[in-house]
Amino acid sequence: MLSKSGFAPRLVAWQRLHGRHDLPWQNTHDPYRIWLAEIMLQQTQVASVIQYYHRFLARFPDVKTLADAPLDEVMARWSGLGYYARARHLQRCAQRVMREYGGIFPRDVEMLITLPGVGRSTASAIAACAYGAPQPILDGNVKRVLTRIFGIEGFPGAPRIENALWTLAESLLPALVANQEENLKTMRAYTQGLMDLGALVCRRARPDCARCPFQEECVAFATGRTHELPQARPKKAKPVRRAFMLVLRSGNAVLLERRAPKGIWGGLWSLPEASNEAELLACAARFGAFGPFTRLAAVTHTFTHFQLRIEPRLATLPACAYAGNCLAGQEQAWTPLCELHQYGLPAPVRRLLTR
Ligand code: ADE
Repeated sequence: MLSKSGFAPRLVAWQRLHGRHDLPWQNTHDPYRIWLAEIMLQQTQVASVIQYYHRFLARFPDVKTLADAPLDEVMARWSGLGYYARARHLQRCAQRVMREYGGIFPRDVEMLITLPGVGRSTASAIAACAYGAPQPILDGNVKRVLTRIFGIEGFPGAPRIENALWTLAESLLPALVANQEENLKTMRAYTQGLMDLGALVCRRARPDCARCPFQEECVAFATGRTHELPQARPKKAKPVRRAFMLVLRSGNAVLLERRAPKGIWGGLWSLPEASNEAELLACAARFGAFGPFTRLAAVTHTFTHFQLRIEPRLATLPACAYAGNCLAGQEQAWTPLCELHQYGLPAPVRRLLTR
């Protein structure tokens, strides 16, 4: 198991040797430029952000220019990056920084978080990269890195897991030294190291574990679970619809009915169906079947948006009763069980009839 105090020095050393060093927002200490990059990178890949970043800065080189610009122009320069609420928040944030902080982004994460468009991880990235504050980041990439290395189960977006990840991320931060300049360099390399490891090595698909500085201690690697961690969002339970179906037997034949052309299984042959049991019994009565009815085991079928629970009821007529006994206006067929394969039946109905 990796010691927590050993994590930061190894990550920093790895970032200095193998990480990225020429991203445009790495070569500045200007909090405005760092903030702008972090907002652009919230929902957009690095490769797409770079060109927008340069063009945006050419027009809005500082927070005052951005705060004073017409919103239409801000939107026009953002156009193509998507998620346009970000651009509106961006300008409102610039205006607040001008009004409330004299044009200088605050150092304190608690203050940064109150700015429009700035969440906890973005605030920490700004505080760490611009001011060297010992603050942990926790975006999607970092969640992936931490859940794999430390073998953390559960969906990382769930509040309980996310809180545990924040606590873990805090416990991994580099130790501070007396020299502020040194702390700034360390926090920049550490924060960038987390992002670089997630983007370059600990990728979502096909992680490059051979190049990972934590391969030896990584729980996901050791247990062959890199493809299972982080765990996916749990699927929502689908609503269950009930359908009652009549299995009306006469000798070795069963009554089939063609379904309406529209709706599920349109045009296929199936069993007479009702949405409640009383309706189904009334249907059986029209064929002279008055019970007793046998409850057969339910069959469940999963559709994209719901589950269908088929509850079959078996009724039996005398062997000679069925000839020609179909209801007018409905496509019905008494079908010997040995001929079922000639009919297009929905899979769960076929399963029900052949078991
Ligand atoms: N994603 C979010 N912030 C980033 C940064 N500073 N560098 C690279 N990718 C990032």
